[in-house]
Amino acid sequence: MKELSLLFIGFGVVGRGLAELLLEKAEVLRSRFDLNFKVVGICDLKWGSIANDEGIDLAKALSLVESGRSFDSYDLPARRGLSALEAIRETRSNVVVEVTWTNLENGEPGLTHIREALRLGKHVATTNKGPIALAYRELSKLAESRGVKLKFEGTVLSGTPTFNLTLNCLAALKVNRVRGILNGTTNFILTEMERGVSYHDALKKAQKLGYAEADPTLDVDGWDAAAKACILANVLMDGDVKPRDVERRGIRDMSLSDVLGAVNRGLRVKLLAEVWREGGEVKVRVSPKLIPQSDILAGVSGVLNAITFETDVLGEVTVIGAGAGRRPTGYALLNDLISIGSAL
Ligand code: HSE
Repeated sequence: MKELSLLFIGFGVVGRGLAELLLEKAEVLRSRFDLNFKVVGICDLKWGSIANDEGIDLAKALSLVESGRSFDSYDLPARRGLSALEAIRETRSNVVVEVTWTNLENGEPGLTHIREALRLGKHVATTNKGPIALAYRELSKLAESRGVKLKFEGTVLSGTPTFNLTLNCLAALKVNRVRGILNGTTNFILTEMERGVSYHDALKKAQKLGYAEADPTLDVDGWDAAAKACILANVLMDGDVKPRDVERRGIRDMSLSDVLGAVNRGLRVKLLAEVWREGGEVKVRVSPKLIPQSDILAGVSGVLNAITFETDVLGEVTVIGAGAGRRPTGYALLNDLISIGSAL
């Protein structure tokens, strides 16, 4: 039996989504994948930090936080107060689950956490878009040089297969163009607005449901979609694009009459991300577009996301599925852990 010794850096919505699935699927991991896990540490700015190389009680840690109590109330043996970097260096973890918030300016603090974990020869599973959008080349080279895996399935389309699909099933194909709805919050808002709900009420609902970023301007101004499009461009098309280079417009200035007017004309407003090759470069654009009902992406509603990959052999391949949320994003991490487990 192989063993994952997990260190959680971050224990917000996504980290807890993974924790819940680990507990729920422990038997499946054992019987189907020959994989055991223990959690050797959890560090979170809000809840505190506990670590124990023998394993901490994940169910207990989860139920404390779910009831709003910090790790001060964790009454089993544990080292307390380690910073994220100390925990990465001092716990006997073989996998670091980096699920701190996304920072698209410099990727921190996630970038430093991931660099340090890889440098120390630990596998990394992350849903943090900042480090992957800003430093994919550097981090993937570092992982390769240390012989460890860097997994980031949940950075785009949460648990809906994106990199598992493209880097495995479509691996021998050339992706020439990508077009997609990459942000769950804005797609949810636009769908609610089609039902007459105001922009602000729809945004509040998306926040309550755990779809929005800690700073929701990242969603509504198109930054989140731009970051995901950069990840697709850089990972699948060998681009070198940063979110700040993206031609970008969000949905902040969309009025109810814009959205309802489109519906009346048989169209839908969608925040589309596009990635294409032009003159030896890979370009990225994010903008609200009016698309006809016949467009495959027009049927993608609510928090659903979708990507159409235009490939040299199969033509267009489209995936549609959950784009955000606690369990779908937790599932992406679970999948990454299974893939890391196969390499142990
Ligand atoms: N805020 C993001 C979204 C979360 O709404 O799509 C998933 O990356």
